[in-house]
Amino acid sequence: MKGQISASMMCADLLNMERDIRLMEKHHVELLHCDVMDRHFVPNLMMFPDMINRIAEVTQTPLDVHLMVEDPASILPSLKLREGDYVSLHAESTVHLQRALAAIRARGWKPALALNPATPLCMIEELLPDFDMLLLMTVNPGYSGQKLIPQCLDKITRARKLLDDAGYAATPIEVDGNCSLENTPKMMAAGAEIIVAGSSSVFDKRLGVEEGVKALRRSMGQA
Ligand code: DX5
Ligand code: ZN
Repeated sequence: MKGQISASMMCADLLNMERDIRLMEKHHVELLHCDVMDRHFVPNLMMFPDMINRIAEVTQTPLDVHLMVEDPASILPSLKLREGDYVSLHAESTVHLQRALAAIRARGWKPALALNPATPLCMIEELLPDFDMLLLMTVNPGYSGQKLIPQCLDKITRARKLLDDAGYAATPIEVDGNCSLENTPKMMAAGAEIIVAGSSSVFDKRLGVEEGVKALRRSMGQA
């Protein structure tokens, strides 16, 4: 798999969001990752629907909306996304997960299923036809700038095998959390396809955005 970048927009310069979106477009970043946090499911507050809807208006780059909220299905009517945008929700947040994933698909968006580091992979087994991407958290969700939880690498390997063995070889695995220049090659070797690029790479202030994208591409074997 070639590997795609999903730039974590909560790590962009919040006062220069459009400038950073244009830089992502210039460097052909494949997806814009928009985290929604409600201070209940995770202990932080982040991007609200009107802001995400505005991003969807000003760019052609597909969005990758990651709902880290209680009752994520209740947020869906507030989002104005385009066909093909991803929307992920957490297995830990929803009792009627299949219904919530189906509600995303019914809007023309691509449903994605997210798992926290502590959640076992067996949670995906009954839902394989219902999601188009598996998002594996490689840190506990809520904050940027955390360290990779090492056992998550083996979880990526096992998830890739589970999907392949069940006939879902085309379902990509996204990894979110500390996708640094050092960790990304290991994550990709384990089977990750979509890399959430936050403060560990694209938005590493020491590098600057453009050099951050280039350095991440190199670490992905693409430059
Ligand atoms: C939460 C976010 C963060 C963050 C990732 O889901 O997606 O994990 O922006 O970037 P890092 O871990 O590199 O700061
Ligand atoms: Zn995220």
